[in-house]
Amino acid sequence: MAKVALVTGAGRGIGRGIALALAEAGWAVVINYRGNAATANETAELAREAGGEALVVQADIGAAADRARLVEAALERFGRIDLLVNNAGMGPRTRLDILETTEASYDEVMNVNLKGPFFLSQLVARTMLERLEPGVDRADAPKIINIGSISAYTSSPTRGEYCISKAGVTMMTLLFADRLAESGINVYEVRPGIVETDMTSGVKGKYDKLIGDGLTPIRRWGQPEDVGRAVVAVAEGRFPFSTGEVLNVDGGFHMHRL
Ligand SMILES: NC(=O)c1ccc[n+]([C@@H]2O[C@H](COP(=O)([O-])OP(=O)(O)OC[C@H]3O[C@@H](n4cnc5c(N)ncnc54)[C@H](O)[C@@H]3O)[C@@H](O)[C@H]2O)c1
Repeated sequence: MAKVALVTGAGRGIGRGIALALAEAGWAVVINYRGNAATANETAELAREAGGEALVVQADIGAAADRARLVEAALERFGRIDLLVNNAGMGPRTRLDILETTEASYDEVMNVNLKGPFFLSQLVARTMLERLEPGVDRADAPKIINIGSISAYTSSPTRGEYCISKAGVTMMTLLFADRLAESGINVYEVRPGIVETDMTSGVKGKYDKLIGDGLTPIRRWGQPEDVGRAVVAVAEGRFPFSTGEVLNVDGGFHMHRL
């Protein structure tokens, strides 16, 4: 039977890129979305065309009851979850200077980007532990991959709550990696740079110029497929002696340069 991946926020953008890359590699994918059923169904169709089974589940990652329903739906259909990809995320609805940022925006972004993934990881990790098969090689054991961001260490004072949430995702990765290592479950952060999606469409002109001027050593926008490929490489178990690891998928943005 194909291995089963649950990808949050997979209706579009990076999540879709990850779901399709996994489907191409033969995984069954649970495609979670929050609001737009049409794009999620489209992702599922593309995944099936790529050769993978697909289940679409609506759930708001920021809501506890939705998280529980999502995991139940995945288990009911496939019986297990071999990989959780915490991809769903959002920027602040309005970019405000940190001297103006509202508590409502802070709470919303932290809830979706950090609290939701934390408690979803807790829920899924428990099901992974319950289903651990004795003697399974660490390369084949269940895994968790968190989609972080260069914003974990890059200051953008007009979206401070986003930066803080992604810095939190880095620690969340370390915590789960530490806790689950004894059970053979490895946990990773895949950290995208500037990727062409709806999230960055509002700042496209600004980033076109920055990238053209050499902001990233690899002078192009990242694409969802770039992140998808990296996730598949990790998911396939090629890094059995690495956990709590960050994989930068950023065109070299993270390097200090002179
Ligand atoms: N685009 C970039 O440049 C970039 C860079 C670094 C990291 N990231 C991260 O990658 C991930 C995907 O971003 P993207 O660029 O594809 O953005 P996007 O806005 O195109 O897609 C995000 C998806 O997550 C879904 N989502 C949002 N809140 C949700 C919730 N509460 N429950 C369920 N689904 C929810 C959205 O509906 C959407 O489908 C995010 O975690 C983002 O922070 C993006």
